[in-house]
Amino acid sequence: MKESTLLMPSELREYMLAHSSPLDAVQRRVVERTSTFPTMAHWQTAPEQSAFLTLLVRTLGAGQAAEVGTFTGLSALAIARGLQPGGRLVTCEISDDFTGIAREAWRAAGVEDRIDLRIAPALDTLRALPAEPYLDFSFVDADKIGYPDYFEELLVRTRPGGILAFDNVFRSGRVLRPESEVDEAVIDFNARLVKDDRVDVVMVPIADGMTLAWRK
Ligand SMILES: C[S@@+](CC[C@H](N)C(=O)[O-])C[C@H]1O[C@@H](n2cnc3c(N)ncnc32)[C@H](O)[C@@H]1O
Repeated sequence: MKESTLLMPSELREYMLAHSSPLDAVQRRVVERTSTFPTMAHWQTAPEQSAFLTLLVRTLGAGQAAEVGTFTGLSALAIARGLQPGGRLVTCEISDDFTGIAREAWRAAGVEDRIDLRIAPALDTLRALPAEPYLDFSFVDADKIGYPDYFEELLVRTRPGGILAFDNVFRSGRVLRPESEVDEAVIDFNARLVKDDRVDVVMVPIADGMTLAWRK
């Protein structure tokens, strides 16, 4: 679990979490199991993002969703829970190493039948999806260098009024003082997106920053 956010002291974050819908037993188990991989546990979306994703997907009335970056399945679970009955989430992951945890959680939560996990480079999976605007919602939380390509592939498949969400757009604050090629790539992506007249963009200061792009 991400312990604190860049902009929020941990005491205030505890307060925020205590006054938001809490993780349920299935979600807590995914967090616990993921914490046994200390070098990767921080990849997992924060609990407040889980609640936010479910609410956003529900509010959109989404039936069709896509995700890039499954890992141990917490964000996929949040998205799937918000989908309309009969809805479907295609989630893209390059490695099968951690998806056992994800599948077990989806089964326990009763959303397994809504989630289509594709193990392959995400760009290949996205390019194989129907090339028409049918997606209501997408969440991108994988290799940051790939964000511009994921955006283009997802945008053409997103219906007007649909939303594309991109995680870690603050790079822990390094968008202000870049330290790596990846930081520079996210800075470029953020700059391009806000100028793109196909979308309206809001950067939400949740966790490590999440950009919402609304398809015009
Ligand atoms: C930050 S983690 C995703 C965390 C996830 N959203 C969650 O809540 O647990 C990023 C994931 O993207 C995967 N990934 C990285 N590059 C990828 C690619 N080119 N295609 C598909 N998945 C990729 C990684 O293996 C990793 O599991």
